[in-house]
Amino acid sequence: LAISPFIASLPKVELHIHIEGTLQPALRWKLAQRNNIPLRFKSQEYHTYEELLDSYNVTYNHRPELGGRKDVPTFLEAYFAGCEVLLTEDDFYDLAMDYLARCREMNVRYVEPFFDIQAHTRRGVPAEHVLNGYLRAQRDGASRYGVRSNWIFCFLRDEPVEDGEAAYQTALPWAKSGHGLFHAVGLASNAYERPPILFKKAFERAQADGLHITTHCDFGQKDTHEHIRQAIFDVQIERIDHGLDVLDRDELIAGLVDRNVGLTLCPHAYHRRTATEVLFPKLRELLDKGVKFCINSDDPVYMHDVWIDGNMEKAYHYGGLTKQEMVQLARNAVDMCWADEAVKKDIY
Ligand code: HPA
Ligand code: ZN
Repeated sequence: LAISPFIASLPKVELHIHIEGTLQPALRWKLAQRNNIPLRFKSQEYHTYEELLDSYNVTYNHRPELGGRKDVPTFLEAYFAGCEVLLTEDDFYDLAMDYLARCREMNVRYVEPFFDIQAHTRRGVPAEHVLNGYLRAQRDGASRYGVRSNWIFCFLRDEPVEDGEAAYQTALPWAKSGHGLFHAVGLASNAYERPPILFKKAFERAQADGLHITTHCDFGQKDTHEHIRQAIFDVQIERIDHGLDVLDRDELIAGLVDRNVGLTLCPHAYHRRTATEVLFPKLRELLDKGVKFCINSDDPVYMHDVWIDGNMEKAYHYGGLTKQEMVQLARNAVDMCWADEAVKKDIY
């Protein structure tokens, strides 16, 4: 689907993107050489650039009876395998600057990228390499490309809560009150049997530190309605990342609308495994029911290289939304973002 001039020129704000999900194969290849790290998934090594490119054809599961393949990584496995080439402060800086340069090309004016610090510290990478690399990119991205960013610390929800809390304590000097890199916390990685309530204390601590809170409630995951319910009513989250399953339950929709909680949706991520005629009418339904949402990209490099502009084009084209409605969705992102009011005014 080609990006129309209307979508290309629309001023954009991106609120759901994992920075590690923007690591393009060319930079990954370069960093592997620079750091002398093999490119691989489990016992499989990728010896050529073509083999590496092939590895982005991920499977949804490893069970042949469900149509999966054993020899191919799942999406999250591919994502964490990609992380392995990131070691030094410069690596993290280069990753983030690549993304912010691309933002400028797409007329993305402000972003709130997620980062998974535990994906690096658990490999033995010092937290300062990650945090200082992103911090330097936050500053240079704003001054060089005019793309401002406030970052979101993610707990890996499938790791022990204590590990996440320890990582958070290490990162705290880089939060809003310190160096100013991140101003919110979220939950990422595999949600299976890892409901938001497990992190209630961690969220409360972050709020006490002056940070905003959000959580992933992945579309179609096990216990998705219960996860959304906990997010809205128990943890009292400010946004939900995905959360498209709210449409099945009136009380969840009412909870979102009453509390003005918006959804950061990523249409292409769902379109990978949902029929067009099932998925895209849901956008119209959300609009009709007064649920606030915005359009985002999630992990573009691991999702067929579809970025925020491609996601917006899909909503516009398959969702049958008007130009006015697309402008409204772009404005919703400004409304939902956590930039200072002065910055918000400057974006639009
Ligand atoms: N879902 C959950 N966790 C993630 C994702 C995702 O799409 N990408 C990176 N971490
Ligand atoms: Zn996500």
